[in-house]
Amino acid sequence: MAELQYQSGFGNQHATEAVAGALPPGQNSPQKTPFGLYAEQVSGSAFTVPRAENLRSWQYRLRPSVQHSAYLPLTHASLRTAPCQEVAASPNRLRWNPLPVQPDADFIDGLITIATNGDARAQTGLGVHLYAATRSMTRVFYNADGELLIVPQTGALTLKTEFGVLEVNPGEIAVIPRGVKFRVEILGDVRGYICENYGAPLRLPELGPIGANGLANARDFLYPTAWFEDVTLKTEVVAKFGGSLWRCEYDHSPLNVVAWHGNYAPYKYDLARFNTINTVSFDHPDPSIFTVLTSPSETQGSANIDFVIFPPRWMVAENTFRPPWFHRNCMSEYMGLIHGAYDAKAEGFLPGGGSLHNAFSAHGPDKATFDKASSAELTPQKIDNTLAFMFESRYVFEPTEFAMSGGLLQVGYDGVWAGFDRASPPLSS
Ligand SMILES: [Fe+2]
Repeated sequence: MAELQYQSGFGNQHATEAVAGALPPGQNSPQKTPFGLYAEQVSGSAFTVPRAENLRSWQYRLRPSVQHSAYLPLTHASLRTAPCQEVAASPNRLRWNPLPVQPDADFIDGLITIATNGDARAQTGLGVHLYAATRSMTRVFYNADGELLIVPQTGALTLKTEFGVLEVNPGEIAVIPRGVKFRVEILGDVRGYICENYGAPLRLPELGPIGANGLANARDFLYPTAWFEDVTLKTEVVAKFGGSLWRCEYDHSPLNVVAWHGNYAPYKYDLARFNTINTVSFDHPDPSIFTVLTSPSETQGSANIDFVIFPPRWMVAENTFRPPWFHRNCMSEYMGLIHGAYDAKAEGFLPGGGSLHNAFSAHGPDKATFDKASSAELTPQKIDNTLAFMFESRYVFEPTEFAMSGGLLQVGYDGVWAGFDRASPPLSS
């Protein structure tokens, strides 16, 4: 495939055509479209939400999406949706080893849910899934329950979508909006994380006193240019709908959009573009300073999801305990590691692994990290060759049965916080 072209700008009104002249000028749905293409609107928000949050795109297709067989249920052994309630949420700190790649799995087969929260039916909360795949999809997938934030950990993904093609490598993320059809193609084994967002679509966080620039800059979000398959072959389409999978058949590829315009489309972002902001005096800011994208809830500032990264950065704080501090949080924190080491843990938190610290569960630096950082010389230090992330949510995570009994759970995680000596204040008289 020729080098991919992208359109840039988060939430922009993009316009793109794979064949010159395919986009109708000046209107969305003319009586006669260019080349007789079928005009179809995809609405990613209710028609009447405020303009700043309104999401929709117009597609010009070889065939309309309506032309398919009835959907039939499709079973999946390890994909779960909230409310799942296989295992009661607990205040226990949990940590998992990486998921081994399973033989002969495409991206859909290779999905395993680790935890869920909220309720997909009420459009709150999220699902945390891992994926591990060994072959490309030949079928096409869409998710009516939530948008998919895909965080590759090993292996590149080629996302062939209705809106065009995205190439996504480890260190980058992709977001596939609800309802958008796509196929994942791979060249070798791949593994990674997915946040399935049942709530408000991810958006850039407010910047407040930071100003007009910084953190993830809008211009660095890349959207596909129009691309289509003119294929008349039986194609299975799998839908995730109401917490279950369904399958139907098209007699052609539904990835047949010749041109489109609008602001509802998949996108990708290179996390190395994140403009990291941190202290230049003392203490370190709350990790919200590392928020890439946020899915707000109805309560301002209490996110359905904050997607936060811990990227390479300089540590220069004076007279400061520099690693993440001891913490109890009303929000719940699922963390993953793309590569390198995370600065709050000396060992055990592995690339491809994960950890969960639910609401108000005490967490923070392990004993080895605490000891080292408490006596470290506070010269400027670059934390490098590392990329961790967090799905932080106002809703408590319920782990799945697989998470608790599937063989990945690390026994004895609590032990990393054993052995802190009693502090020795002067005795009171
Ligand atoms: Fe925390």
